[in-house]
Amino acid sequence: MASLSINSLNKIKAEIKVPGDKSISHRAVMIGSLAGGRTLIRGFLPSADCLATVNCLRNLGIEVKVDGANVEIFGRGLRGLRAPRGPLDVGNSGTTLRLLAGILAGQSFHSRVNGDASIQRRPMLRIVKPLREMGANIEGKEKGDNIYAPLDIYGGALSPIEYELPVASAQVKSAVLLAGLFAEGETVVHEKHHSRDHTERMLLHFGAKIRGTRLWGNCEFCGSEIDVPGDISSAAFFMVAAALLPGSELLIKGVGVNPTRTGIIEVLHRMGAELEVKDEQILSDEPRGDILVQGSKLKGIRISGEIIPRIIDEIPVIAVAATQAKGTTQIRGARELRVKESDRIATISSELKKMGAVIKEQDDGMTIKGPVRLKGATVKSYGDHRVAMAMAVAGLVAEGETVIEDTTCIETSFPGFEGILRSISQ
Ligand code: S3P
Repeated sequence: MASLSINSLNKIKAEIKVPGDKSISHRAVMIGSLAGGRTLIRGFLPSADCLATVNCLRNLGIEVKVDGANVEIFGRGLRGLRAPRGPLDVGNSGTTLRLLAGILAGQSFHSRVNGDASIQRRPMLRIVKPLREMGANIEGKEKGDNIYAPLDIYGGALSPIEYELPVASAQVKSAVLLAGLFAEGETVVHEKHHSRDHTERMLLHFGAKIRGTRLWGNCEFCGSEIDVPGDISSAAFFMVAAALLPGSELLIKGVGVNPTRTGIIEVLHRMGAELEVKDEQILSDEPRGDILVQGSKLKGIRISGEIIPRIIDEIPVIAVAATQAKGTTQIRGARELRVKESDRIATISSELKKMGAVIKEQDDGMTIKGPVRLKGATVKSYGDHRVAMAMAVAGLVAEGETVIEDTTCIETSFPGFEGILRSISQ
């Protein structure tokens, strides 16, 4: 099993690029497959999760050519998918499973969708419920009051719905909107707090009939070209590392700065970090810019409410920042972290404690006291890519050597992470 050993770093002076946005890459492949004709994706993230999406669409009869970050899709229109030859394997990717379920709900054939052990522990009732309301017949493993993969989806004629999200989740919102493509009439999703809106932006970019989260179904759209920006959730690891190391100056080029994803910038600003977004532009209906971070002293803050869905994937590395900030950082209203690739409240707390951090777990968050001089230790990833990379950042600011065990999972979202880490450590 791969492991990563990290030594402390004084400062970071570098210019880097991070790979393409995971959420946008998944959506480009799925929506491109439903479009009529050729779609060209540049800046695609060729990570294990996104390649799982590609393989699922191939299994559904779509020709997809992947050449590193360049992907060509030969879409067959809204009704062009074919019954898969066997189960669709999403690997570790919750986004693949939940978004694809929305598409499969509208097909006239049966499909079985499954994934790895972590996927089989993640709650699926959140998508099964609205998709059943739209008319799909979906069965899964019922345990307690939830449903788990493998899911058997018997799609068919769907009716549009107006759906209020019980949890802020872009995956659920997207599953309903993608199913809505196959329903005659208006499908509308209401959300209390805004979650990432890449599905809405991309459907609009392809020419689907959508305004905000209101979509008109049964309208064909054509293939397009998509430029995927760098993933701010990947950039976040290096943003925090540079913010924590005095004297650092790090420029991260071409990062997606969609306002539904930039909560990490707001949190770091509030903690006292020096960072700015430069040269903003819009490409393929998504804003991007260069992020400049300088090292500074941070202070503890309270984080809760509407910002939580906009930082949901960055909370593990925000917890690392909080161990180095003066005072108390409180993170609340983030119970969703318990049902990610691992229970991130439990896993990040337990591993940071091994390095000397002062953290108290709450049901829906964490209370972290700082600053604490972390000490290198041997820690675990729990097979969770974001825990592995957050612990690597902790290793950069700790005394001595930190060894992170089981780091193969980093491939799910950030191939090349170790290479960038090594290049800024010289
Ligand atoms: C994602 C949405 C988020 C996020 C995940 C990617 C997406 O999940 O945690 O990494 O691409 O829609 P939820 O929708 O479950 O919050």
